[in-house]
Amino acid sequence: MKRVRKCVFPVAGMGSRFLPATKASPKEMMPIVDKPLIQYAVEEAVAAGITDMIFITGRNKRTIEDHFDKAYEVEAELAARGKLDLLELVQSIVPKHINCIYIRQPEALGLGHAVLCAEPVVNDEPFAVILADDLIDGAPPVLQQMAQVYEQRQCSVLGVEEVPREHTRQYGIVQTDGGEPGVVSAIVEKPQPQDAPSTLAVVGRYILSPRIFHHLAKVQAGAGGEIQLTDGIAALLREDKVLAYRFKGMRYDCGSKLGYLQAMVAYGKKHPEVGAAFAAYLKSL
Ligand code: G1P
Repeated sequence: MKRVRKCVFPVAGMGSRFLPATKASPKEMMPIVDKPLIQYAVEEAVAAGITDMIFITGRNKRTIEDHFDKAYEVEAELAARGKLDLLELVQSIVPKHINCIYIRQPEALGLGHAVLCAEPVVNDEPFAVILADDLIDGAPPVLQQMAQVYEQRQCSVLGVEEVPREHTRQYGIVQTDGGEPGVVSAIVEKPQPQDAPSTLAVVGRYILSPRIFHHLAKVQAGAGGEIQLTDGIAALLREDKVLAYRFKGMRYDCGSKLGYLQAMVAYGKKHPEVGAAFAAYLKSL
């Protein structure tokens, strides 16, 4: 029986919806309270038993590598000042048994192309993909829920949720046999509401068979002129079972300003240090 040990984080996108904040620093480093989005994503992967974190990076992404690396100056400074709790916090960002691997995507040709860049490291193993700007608060964490489905069913699993019909043009939309998890019979990237086969949207969580690489290598530019992961999955499901899993949890679309603000409020209210005071402040408004 195969287990999922590797996770791909496509982080080469430009983050144009958050300019000017993302002019010189990656959108994945934007914090929700005190932790960058990419750290929430890595913690979710760790909880799912992943050991190899594969970041597909691009220009302006050095701070992501630095974030998961040793920070000599900060650590020495905290040690010298006796701030041992903060030192522990900085040193425990990634557990010791985790490998962080960085692959540079030379051109931003689309999500499918970014995932294909991971092939030399993933090889012939099932792997996960997390899009860090879909922040999902789930218990257990959503990738862990999906890894359990994978372990039982040994086939690709897509994390999905219902969206309003007018939003289908923002997502990959699946058609399923209605089961739970449902067997996917079709997937379309960003259909117009009147053309969407359903209102079940793929959010940024995938567990994929390595056969996807074979298909991605052949995919032509699709929606938005990009090589789409969705088109690779559409080819995969013609030869292999793909399941759509309705995860348990609350998703925040941190690729949009409104979703980002909603996440900040939700995570702020339950933050161990400031949560109670922040909730009281919100009430007073
Ligand atoms: C990407 C995928 C899309 C998926 C979405 C989830 O789109 O292409 O299929 O539904 O992520 O967030 P993007 O949001 O990068 O445009």
